[in-house]
Amino acid sequence: PRLAEFAGAVVEWQKRHGRHHLPWQGTRDAYRIWLSEIMLQQTQVATVVGYYERFLSRFPDIPALARASQDEVMPYWAGLGYYARARNLHRCAQELAAHWDGRFPDTPEQIATLPGIGRSTAAAIAAFAYGTRSPIMDGNVKRVFTRYFGIYGVSSQRATEQLLWKTAEEAVQAAPAALDMAAYTQGLMDLGSDCCTRGRPDCARCPLQAGCYAYAHGVQHELPTPKQK
Ligand code: ADE
Ligand code: SF4
Repeated sequence: PRLAEFAGAVVEWQKRHGRHHLPWQGTRDAYRIWLSEIMLQQTQVATVVGYYERFLSRFPDIPALARASQDEVMPYWAGLGYYARARNLHRCAQELAAHWDGRFPDTPEQIATLPGIGRSTAAAIAAFAYGTRSPIMDGNVKRVFTRYFGIYGVSSQRATEQLLWKTAEEAVQAAPAALDMAAYTQGLMDLGSDCCTRGRPDCARCPLQAGCYAYAHGVQHELPTPKQK
């Protein structure tokens, strides 16, 4: 597998074939990006769009969300499920209002200390809002990385998880300094849901085919390593 070409190929593909017109794209407002990422954690894009727009028109910024009570916020989440997300969102806005001057912190490490925001979501917010060179590693992205780099092992094992994150960091480090991190991050997500899908990966259309370990060895269906039953 080829490390040096990886990120560039993802960006080029994203610019031509990825998604560009989602309502949270084309903004650098960390609040809007954060809201979209939290909604998208467990809900499909098509469902999120309407909720996202209604939520933002009622709570346009961090101070507006922080001023509201939880009872005012929950109706805007009703139907999305996983309600802990909404409670964390609200708590997070109050914490930002109280301790961060109502603004979002700008490093992934600081963002990851906030309620309900894990390492990958923090990295995605920083990449979209600030262009930070911090890699993501969610379920879709794990599929792309295990296949492209030939990474075996169940991802619940620490060694596998560490290797995935290390490889994700190396892929960014090996890329030119001018790498468009928003396009790269979005491209990884889009590839994982468009070409490198779970059931039938569409390797013929995939920009990573030439360097892909799983494609070269015909082992797309062995990767990611399934969880033990
Ligand atoms: N899932 C998580 N984040 C996403 C994003 N920015 N676009 C599409 N799907 C996503
Ligand atoms: Fe996934 Fe196939 Fe692309 Fe490899 S070539 S990254 S298996 S879609």
